[in-house]
Amino acid sequence: MALIAPSLLAADFLNLERDCKMVNESAADWFHLDVMDGLFVPNISFGLPVIEAINRVATKTLDVHLMIEKPERYIQDFKAAGADVLTVHYEASTHLHRSLQAIKAEGMQAGVALNPHTPVSLLKDVIQDIDLVCLMSVNPGFGGQKFIERTYDKVRELKGMINEAGSNTLIEIDGGVNTDNAPKLIAAGADVLVAGSFVFRAENQIGTIAALKAI
Ligand code: DX5
Ligand code: ZN
Repeated sequence: MALIAPSLLAADFLNLERDCKMVNESAADWFHLDVMDGLFVPNISFGLPVIEAINRVATKTLDVHLMIEKPERYIQDFKAAGADVLTVHYEASTHLHRSLQAIKAEGMQAGVALNPHTPVSLLKDVIQDIDLVCLMSVNPGFGGQKFIERTYDKVRELKGMINEAGSNTLIEIDGGVNTDNAPKLIAAGADVLVAGSFVFRAENQIGTIAALKAI
């Protein structure tokens, strides 16, 4: 049974409070919040004031995924906005180890996200410092894209690396997750499943979250 993290990128922003309350009442474990700067990814989503507002109504862990250049500039700000897990991209971080320590010094869990083209082996020397690795199973920037099948092998390889290091690092999968690929992802070693459009485009959102949670 994995942790389920609905991505609010696919929520109805005119009814954000309603959608947050739906997640509160559902079997979901975390809120997944996608921050995009229009530079690291070719899209702009939402930022600090929106997360602050979500934090006022959300009763579950806020899992903030920063798709921004030089994320180390904003670590304290996202802590103040309510982030519990803060994930930076490997590809956007020149001094990744320093950023991870800074996130943990603020009392948050430290995550690292990898783009589909980035090999998991690049995390070998820092895996013990990472609370969560977010494997992107689509190219970051947009919801509703097709799941990249190669991800299963990356999950298995990463799981092996984590076990070998004796680390507690969680593996999160982000992009194109649904009830078809979730069983195979969990079998490969995934701990956290992010789902955006699969949840929010469903007629029965609570039921869809429950179905993912039951896998
Ligand atoms: C993509 C984001 C994802 C996105 C997932 O850049 O990081 O979190 O919201 O959306 P779906 O589940 O629709 O692929
Ligand atoms: Zn994300």
